[in-house]
Amino acid sequence: MIKFYQMKDFFQIRNKMRCLRKRSTVSFLGVLVIFLLFLNLYIEDSYVLEGDKQLIRETSTHQLNSERYVHTFKDLSNFSGAINVTYRYLAATTLQRKRYLTIGLSSVKRRKGNYLLETIKSIFEQSSYEELKEISVVVHLADFNSSWRDIMVQDITQKFAHHIIAGRLMVIHAPEEYYPILDGLKRNYNDPEDRVKFRSKQNVDYAFLLNFCANTSDYYVMLEDDVRCSKNFLTAIKKVIASLEGTYWVTLEFSKLGYIGKLYHSHDLPRLAHFLLMFYQEMPCDWLLTHFRGLLAQKNVIRFKPSLFQHMGYYSSYKGTENKLKDDDFEEESFDIPDNPPASLYTNMNVFENYEASKAYSSVDEYFWGKPPSKGDVFLIVFENPIIIKKIKVNTGTEDRQNDILHHGILDVGKRIILSKQIRQCDTYLRLGEFKNGNFEMSDVNQKIPFDVYCMRICVTKTQKEWLIIRSISIWTS
Ligand SMILES: *[C@@H]1O[C@H](CO)[C@@H](O)[C@H](O)[C@H]1NC(C)=O
Ligand SMILES: *[C@@H]1O[C@H](CO)[C@@H](O)[C@H](O)[C@H]1NC(C)=O
Ligand SMILES: *[C@@H]1O[C@H](CO)[C@@H](O)[C@H](O)[C@H]1NC(C)=O
Ligand SMILES: *[C@@H]1O[C@H](CO)[C@@H](O)[C@H](O)[C@H]1NC(C)=O
Repeated sequence: MIKFYQMKDFFQIRNKMRCLRKRSTVSFLGVLVIFLLFLNLYIEDSYVLEGDKQLIRETSTHQLNSERYVHTFKDLSNFSGAINVTYRYLAATTLQRKRYLTIGLSSVKRRKGNYLLETIKSIFEQSSYEELKEISVVVHLADFNSSWRDIMVQDITQKFAHHIIAGRLMVIHAPEEYYPILDGLKRNYNDPEDRVKFRSKQNVDYAFLLNFCANTSDYYVMLEDDVRCSKNFLTAIKKVIASLEGTYWVTLEFSKLGYIGKLYHSHDLPRLAHFLLMFYQEMPCDWLLTHFRGLLAQKNVIRFKPSLFQHMGYYSSYKGTENKLKDDDFEEESFDIPDNPPASLYTNMNVFENYEASKAYSSVDEYFWGKPPSKGDVFLIVFENPIIIKKIKVNTGTEDRQNDILHHGILDVGKRIILSKQIRQCDTYLRLGEFKNGNFEMSDVNQKIPFDVYCMRICVTKTQKEWLIIRSISIWTS
């Protein structure tokens, strides 16, 4: 919070300074920006050899496409290698430092509404000064209409010049001649022809974007061009990645919509890019993504709540049709991700299928589910190390099963560990309070209890006939 206010003040001060200096500096800045843009306009990607422009000019469009097609697919013999595309840098400063996270967006001209500038603004605004140093944003202007691209580049460079100069924002374009055939494609799922063309091109847009971003950072997150970010999303992402250390994952999901908020290890990007390109005409990208995860042997979706990214578009990029899809798990101020220190979980309740106790405690979107509990049943958390608790929050039931809450229960914290009935347990407990409407929340816990906490337990105080879902147990330590 402190950091956030400092940032705001910083911007206010800067804004004031800017007002004072406006007249004198505006022309200088303008010249500088134009100079930098000129430097970088059409700089060719250094790690790819020269494109054979002569060949391109001499062949007909169709042949050209097939040539490219064959050429592109020759790359498939090495999935960890880059796809051979010579990108155009529409706005960028050369030689970037490798960052922690790259945020990629691909954008095309929409019939109605354009949210790209808003999206970029949201990424930067919701990040602190420290966080900005660890991210880079790559925008792929993927429309073939060059006047639209020119207009967008002009808008972006005007609004975000200092981010471009800082090497934090890059705008690129993959020339049309690299695209495979987009007309007369297979009409899978009986999609209309223009729909097929739209989604097929979109797969290629993403493939070229991912290919570009393969070595700009350690991790990569895909956004769409009409997204709002929650405050300090980078810090939340870092916490989640740290909590998963040692576990295998391919895709982490920070939104439940489309191709928003899907996070990858950067070393998987070349393969994902090849994959999207290989199956570009078969199905929409969000389906391909699911297959990609499955093929790399991540069985289940790993999704986090709250969502860090939200759709702001009202019209979709396809034909400007209405798109009111919203993620109801989105929280704009959601950077307060719990710490949940390492712990063992036990319960004497009757667990339903594989909805084990540990699922209530993980940061992933899953839960504990037990058959109707009786008075005296407990749900116990034993921490690996004693902790000082700042805040506790426990939620039971879900939106779909609002009856499966803890109707009567209390929450205790314990000190001093003993070994009882083969499990480590606390011998003394202090009652913190009761559940209300299935929920428990308490702040400043460390000011209310005079000892380090070894255990926490939820006790059922009245037998209920409803099942019990413990959706999340969140603990913030100090
Ligand atoms: C990249 O493509 C060009 C033709 O566009 C070709 O001359 C060059 O050999 C390719 N580079 C690699 C590494 O395959
Ligand atoms: C595949 O590409 C990677 C990265 O460019 C390279 O290090 C590796 O040597 C290539 N492997 C083969 C068999 O060409
Ligand atoms: C390209 O985009 C510009 C600006 O949005 C528009 O005026 C023009 O009609 C477009 N051209 C084509 C061929 O769609
Ligand atoms: C990405 O890789 C290419 C070739 O290996 C290199 O030229 C470029 O500088 C790298 N970019 C970053 C950010 O490391």
